[in-house]
Amino acid sequence: MSKYTVVTMPGDGIGKQVMPEALRLLKAVGFDAEYFHADIGWECWRNGGNALPELTVELLAKYKLGLFGAITSKPKKQAEAELKPALRGKGYSYFSPIVTMRQRFNLDTCIRPCISFPGNPLNFIRKKLDGGFEEPLVNVVIFRQNTEGLYAGVEWTNPPQQVRSALATHPKFVPFSGTPGADLAISVRIITREAAHKIAKAAFEWARKFGYKSVTICEKPNVLRETSGMMEEEAKAVAKEYPEIALWSTNIDAQTMWLTKNPEHYGVIVASNLFGDVISDAFAGLVGGLGFAASGNIGDEVAIFEPTHGSAPKYAELDPPIVNPIAMFLAAAMLLDHVGETAKAKLIRDAISHVVREGQVRTYDMLRISGGRNVIAKGAANTTEMTDAVLASLGKVAEPELEEVLR
Ligand code: NAI
Ligand code: MG
Repeated sequence: MSKYTVVTMPGDGIGKQVMPEALRLLKAVGFDAEYFHADIGWECWRNGGNALPELTVELLAKYKLGLFGAITSKPKKQAEAELKPALRGKGYSYFSPIVTMRQRFNLDTCIRPCISFPGNPLNFIRKKLDGGFEEPLVNVVIFRQNTEGLYAGVEWTNPPQQVRSALATHPKFVPFSGTPGADLAISVRIITREAAHKIAKAAFEWARKFGYKSVTICEKPNVLRETSGMMEEEAKAVAKEYPEIALWSTNIDAQTMWLTKNPEHYGVIVASNLFGDVISDAFAGLVGGLGFAASGNIGDEVAIFEPTHGSAPKYAELDPPIVNPIAMFLAAAMLLDHVGETAKAKLIRDAISHVVREGQVRTYDMLRISGGRNVIAKGAANTTEMTDAVLASLGKVAEPELEEVLR
């Protein structure tokens, strides 16, 4: 019997292409696991009216560890139009299966490391006054509250009368009170003290464990006084237990500007759901973009790891596949860390860093060219070749400057 069981959910599009590559890699590092395939995504919606089938939920509930590729999702009306004819008009509503998974299993802590691999041509560089350039390495880990905030899903177009009446008790609602229901869309931003405390605590714990000097709470408390206010308040309360770590507070808008000026100043960042989503994509752009961005969705019982990118339908049909599997590999490494197989996780990250630094094998994104059929002719490695290169680099030792950042 294997030591671990992992539920694999390749999903749609390029999720199906990168998942098998990750499984090759996990096997190569000797991860003692058995895998159960589970369906998720667009075909499940079209054929069954549910993008997250119950069977998948049951497997996750049973085995508690998931590796997820990517799914396709579409706006409400388009989703309904693509349901198979027998299901149309029967009251099925499309919900994002990832958001549903996070809520179903209370995967309230989302961890998104954004750490540069030296030598990556996509790394952030800064122009110096003398005309030269410098490439400060970014080493940021974002803690995003994953179940609440604006993604809690409490929203309406044409809100029911009770909701309107409740809103009417707030003086700031006066300018909107005459708007006809069909023209009024409302999404509720819900923050609970418990969840705000928990995500802040997780961020500080990480900072302590891995020696980060600061935790930045990135919100907008000057405007969103109640919700961002509570996030900041809890971060301050938690910070008292970690006197060795500085607490900085930034506004989300200013933070998106500063991160392109001095990204190396930041360590751990904590934010509510939407702001965490935004800021993690923004930081990911400084360390290689979607081909290098992975995340963990962690609950008290279940944990699911995924590349941050979507299903990239444009490239899903290309044979051979051209997308970068590194984001998926980093998700697999996070899974290994999570279960305590840290040496195997390090093996993966060291191998990736070696391939990136050597620069011989690069997928099209790393060459800064547009994707498409012709990228191979332009010298890009395909998905499998990138995996082969990483496999061939397993066991290579990271250089000393990397030891510092590749934890
Ligand atoms: P996307 O992440 O699928 O792709 C955007 C672009 O990023 C691609 O066209 C490609 O140029 C690049 N890209 C993404 N992954 C890459 C990789 N591994 N290697 C190289 N280049 C890569 O986002 P998009 O186009 O906005 O959405 C496509 C579909 O994916 C939509 O249906 C969307 O709802 C869904 N989506 C799903 C997510 C998930 O499953 N976690 C996250 C984001 C989008
Ligand atoms: Mg996102």
